[in-house]
Amino acid sequence: MTVVPPDRPRGRFVRWLGVTARTRRRLGKAARLVAALALVGGIYTAFAPGIEAQETGDLSAAAQAGRELYENSCVTCHGENAQGVPDRGPSLIGVGAAAVEFQVTSGRMPMARQEAQAERKPPMFTDEEARQIAAYIQELGGGPVIPEGDLAAGGDLAEGGQLFRLNCAQCHQYAGSGGALSSGAYAPDLYEATQRQIYGAMLSGPQNMPVFSDSQLSPQDKADIIAYIQFMQNEQDPGGWGIGRLGPSTEALVIFLVGMVSLVFATLWIAGKS
Ligand code: HEC
Ligand code: HEC
Repeated sequence: MTVVPPDRPRGRFVRWLGVTARTRRRLGKAARLVAALALVGGIYTAFAPGIEAQETGDLSAAAQAGRELYENSCVTCHGENAQGVPDRGPSLIGVGAAAVEFQVTSGRMPMARQEAQAERKPPMFTDEEARQIAAYIQELGGGPVIPEGDLAAGGDLAEGGQLFRLNCAQCHQYAGSGGALSSGAYAPDLYEATQRQIYGAMLSGPQNMPVFSDSQLSPQDKADIIAYIQFMQNEQDPGGWGIGRLGPSTEALVIFLVGMVSLVFATLWIAGKS
């Protein structure tokens, strides 16, 4: 019976390659090392928490809820992890909770489609949901946050009026009625904005609006301005009847028309009597 020793063909092959026993031992060592490394790596991957899980674990409960809302309504334009999508939406890393709260509570976001300027609309989310999305973006990338509490507390009306005329009136007009800006953009009126939206707009500078950080307008300045805007919101027509706030010429027109009509009737009445 001719039994071929099992290692013979290999031995012959190795010998044919010209590999000495020493090199073979070295090769064996290297192979064992590679195998050991692969094993350690495998065990690590199997037992270490995945990157995804780790990230979620770091988020607060509010931010996790916000992340879900984000992935349903914002991810198509602002991308995975808020890194932005070219030609769809900018990165939201570092814009802060202030920008998100402002955009979402004023109904600007989610944008329905690509437009020149996101408009104020009835919001799609509740204030709580808006804050959850804001918390998610905040925990991802940091940035400015709207403080809690009454944001007009201790606000000085006269000071606020001064600051408003200096910093805001060139776009929003003296009475906060808004107006057109260059190249089709516009500054909206300020009659519907809430305290938190006014603060958020100043901190985030939406679109053509500049950012008014705390070094440009201190929190006290911001309280003054908010108190002044709220005064205008409640007292929109200190001079009397607004007539669509179109100005003194309209009032003159109304006086003229009403006056003429009553004169004509008076004349007819006198003519009828005689
Ligand atoms: C159809 C695309 C689209 C969708 C959906 C969308 N966005 Fe936007 N978003 C934009 C674009 C475009 C801009 C920049 C233009 C602008 O500010 O008007 C923007 C701007 C923003 C900004 C301002 C960034 C800054 O620099 O201040 C925030 C915050 C924001 N989006 C949050 C959201 C959130 C939160 C959602 C989901 C609830 C959302 N967006 C959904 C397109 C979109
Ligand atoms: C250079 C022009 C400009 C200046 C100056 C400016 N804004 Fe604005 N503001 C805008 C534009 C443009 C928008 C609309 C942004 C958008 O639609 O995304 C806006 C939006 C706002 C809104 C949101 C209104 C709403 O109903 O949703 C508020 C509030 C606001 N601005 C407050 C201020 C305050 C307060 C100041 C001064 C401290 C100021 N702005 C200065 C241009 C300006």
